Amino acid sequence: MAQFHYLCALFMKYTQEIETRKTFAIISHPDAGKTTLTEKFLLFGGAIQTAGAVKSNKIKKHATSDFMEIEKQRGISVATSVMSFEYKDKLINLLDTPGHKDFAEDTYRTLTAVDSVVLVIDCVKGVEEQTEKLMEVCRMRNPPVIIFINKMDRDGQNPFDLLEEVEKKLNIKTQPLTWPINMGREFKGVYNILHKSLLKFQANQKATDDDNILLPDLSTGEIVEAVGQKDADSLREDMELIMGVYDQFDPAEYLQGNLAPVFFGSAVNNFGIKDLLDTFIEIAPSPRARLTDKREVLPSEDKFTGFVFKIHANIDPRHRDRVAFLRICSGKFSRNTFYHHVRLDKNVRFSNPYTFLAREKNVVEDAFPGDVVGLFDTGNFKIGDTLTEGEMMTYIGIPSFSPEIFKELVNNDPMKTKQLEKGIRQLTDEGVAQLFTQHGGNRKIIGCVGDLQFEVIQYRLLQEYSAACSFRTLPYFKACWIKGEPNKVDDFIRYKQANIVQDKEGHYVYLAESEWYLNTERSNNPAIKFYVTSDFKHEL
Ligand code: G4P
Repeated sequence: MAQFHYLCALFMKYTQEIETRKTFAIISHPDAGKTTLTEKFLLFGGAIQTAGAVKSNKIKKHATSDFMEIEKQRGISVATSVMSFEYKDKLINLLDTPGHKDFAEDTYRTLTAVDSVVLVIDCVKGVEEQTEKLMEVCRMRNPPVIIFINKMDRDGQNPFDLLEEVEKKLNIKTQPLTWPINMGREFKGVYNILHKSLLKFQANQKATDDDNILLPDLSTGEIVEAVGQKDADSLREDMELIMGVYDQFDPAEYLQGNLAPVFFGSAVNNFGIKDLLDTFIEIAPSPRARLTDKREVLPSEDKFTGFVFKIHANIDPRHRDRVAFLRICSGKFSRNTFYHHVRLDKNVRFSNPYTFLAREKNVVEDAFPGDVVGLFDTGNFKIGDTLTEGEMMTYIGIPSFSPEIFKELVNNDPMKTKQLEKGIRQLTDEGVAQLFTQHGGNRKIIGCVGDLQFEVIQYRLLQEYSAACSFRTLPYFKACWIKGEPNKVDDFIRYKQANIVQDKEGHYVYLAESEWYLNTERSNNPAIKFYVTSDFKHEL
């Protein structure tokens, strides 16, 4: 009986810990305002005291080939990989994503470790290319999304047009929860549709609850007094339209990933952020059940499980240290405790795991579902590795995505072949790029999302492994993992040998030169399925 009570108490404790956690990422097309919004969130959470404290982790536009800059930026982005702060009794874990589009795959992987997403859109530019790609990746796991339409202090597009564009291009239903009153120089503020209150625009104000003017009835003169007759009239018109179109906001629809609530504001002016943050902590999900290859795991289970979603190498250039970022999915993770590394089938323990509360690295004793801990690693981890208390299962849904640029790795120093092979294996384990080997040959093909990664690889192979290499551009645009009737797949591999490679797990991958070739092969080979991710879950 005593043990039963003890277990109940333990369970309750975890439940409380889990419910206070909100683990999410902010994503955007570069320059839409992700870094600025991150900084304002941290200001609200008291994690930083002054604006400008968060360094942009994007590689500045003119420095794309400056290696030192890449290294410096890598250092910064480790420090800001996870930013944890407390706000109104919630513990918020904000997982940072790289600002540069060439590192988009890092962002895709981070999205596997979050429970929800805030998407920033620039009101002048609307939905941009990178936003569309990121949402495509989001849709694979379907986390709930809140949209923040930024830069309302500039003359942007009409808000109704913006919502329509978002719905069309991102294929998600939207519902505004705040509404802007004018924009650009005439921007007067936002009306909170849920709470029926007005926040008047003031630049650089850390808004408090007292700044909101309650305006439950827009037909009275109060709104005219606040924003003037013209803007009051147009707000009334807009509200009438909105009330006619939208039902009462349903948080369940948001939680299922079917409906994205929309907020308007100006990150640089710290305006509209509090409305966003307050609603976020109210509606965003706490850690949820996750799938492994054996079963679904609930966060409230008492046994610890977690997976590695990101590996960061060479923090200190004098050592070959790596930090593996582990997302905790269930139970309690404790320092100096043995856990089972499922892929290697061996027990490992960590004496200095750390968390990132208030932007400082702290050695952590215990961590709970939703938390991310940094583990020092000497080469034991690969992206997607699972740790458990002994159960042999692996978290799924952390696939590789098709790269966009393909180059052959050319060894420039035959005396260093071994180092080059080891280096490229380790770098690709970290997820810097994907390594494919020509079927039936030994040609190594590297696939990346952006050109910058090839420079990073070349630089790191030389610095860390003393291996000199160069790259030969190949004419492919997409990698598709293939599966189907065995004899048909064999025929296809024989017939298309020049385009067939194997990934590190030995899976067959077809490299297509163009959309046309890909479509032709698909229609010529109906018995073969073409997948855009390495887990064979997302078919073309
Ligand atoms: P990112 O991380 O998404 O790439 O964007 P970031 O926050 O770095 O913002 C990109 C630029 O947009 C920055 O200007 C930033 O100051 C500006 N910005 C962010 N929010 C707003 C807003 O609400 N209104 C306006 N007008 N501008 C905004 P920058 O000149 O590139 O950099 P900085 O020198 O100001 O840091």
